Amino acid sequence: MWRLLAGFVLLLCAADAVPVGENRTVPDFGKMYHVKGELNLPYSGDSGIKEPFEVWYDLEGNRSRIDYHNSTVRTFLTGNDLDYGVIYKITPVNTETEVQAIKYFQLKGTKEDPIRPQAALPDLQDFEFEKMEDYAGVQCEVWKKVTQAGHKKNTYRLWVKRPEGSDSPAVPYHFEMEGFNTLLESYNDKYMIDYSDFSSQTESDIFTPPGGMTCKEFPDPPEEHQILANPLQDYVSTSPVSHAHRLFGSFKEKFERQYESEKEHEERENYFLHTLRHVHSTNRAGLSFSLGINDFADKSAAEKAKRTGGLIIPDQIKEDTK
Ligand SMILES: *[C@@H]1O[C@H](CO)[C@@H](O)[C@H](O)[C@H]1NC(C)=O
Ligand SMILES: *[C@@H]1O[C@H](CO)[C@@H](O)[C@H](O)[C@H]1NC(C)=O
Ligand SMILES: *[C@@H]1O[C@H](CO)[C@@H](O)[C@H](O)[C@H]1NC(C)=O
Repeated sequence: MWRLLAGFVLLLCAADAVPVGENRTVPDFGKMYHVKGELNLPYSGDSGIKEPFEVWYDLEGNRSRIDYHNSTVRTFLTGNDLDYGVIYKITPVNTETEVQAIKYFQLKGTKEDPIRPQAALPDLQDFEFEKMEDYAGVQCEVWKKVTQAGHKKNTYRLWVKRPEGSDSPAVPYHFEMEGFNTLLESYNDKYMIDYSDFSSQTESDIFTPPGGMTCKEFPDPPEEHQILANPLQDYVSTSPVSHAHRLFGSFKEKFERQYESEKEHEERENYFLHTLRHVHSTNRAGLSFSLGINDFADKSAAEKAKRTGGLIIPDQIKEDTK
């Protein structure tokens, strides 16, 4: 009888919380939260880019909302809308006749690729506890994951504060991705997110997009749609092949790129990735000009400066916005 009971208790524990490392369970942020973040792209432009954003997440409601640059750009991700969910994006766009015209775009989910609420934090299931460390004066657990795909070895780390009471959610502080290329033998990629104001409270009307919108599909190429509709996805995901990597494929095709060696390919892909992030992040700031992915996208900063006399050339206004 006692043995049976002990076995039962063990089973319960195993299903409830699997011990990791030194008996630590993976931090849980809860099913609903609101958090502010600042994306830091140190390799963007001359001095890097810092982009503020804000996330409302509601797993059970199958929805989330992400605003960028103090709500200059708003995105509503609703899994329960239409057949496979929809993402609505409200953003200022520069057209030939108007600066910062407010435009509405939508991306419909498909059977293969349904829209799910986007989390502000990485999925920690495959992460391992690494160490305790102070982050901004707060004693944090550091959780780590390493992925390897081709020549790219990425290390992801999240700094988290363990809750005092067992019922309260963990609090995120900092996320860092560091990319090492084993062929180039260099650290050539890095981005960080600082989190603040984490709370388990959200207001439910924040998830509802404004009524009466007339939405357009996102402009071509289709490979760019996911990045435009849900920019945070590629940063928070730890999948080795991002949407940005797939977009590099269509860039090579469009501009007829044939690189001489695998090494050059890796270098060019890396420049492309940094350009893409820079272009998209700049465009989300709602400035009076827009940047585009052009022939320069796979060039280094030095190469770009040489060919443009140091000027960044704003791309021509895209077809769809005319
Ligand atoms: C892990 O849990 C086991 C069983 O509860 C316990 O005996 C052990 O001391 C724990 N280890 C640490 C490092 O806390
Ligand atoms: C963000 O927007 C709000 C409302 O439009 C404004 O009051 C606030 O000053 C803005 N904050 C920043 C940092 O620009
Ligand atoms: C959330 O929405 C997606 C896309 O429509 C759907 O596939 C999924 O089943 C929904 N999940 C829940 C829990 O309702």
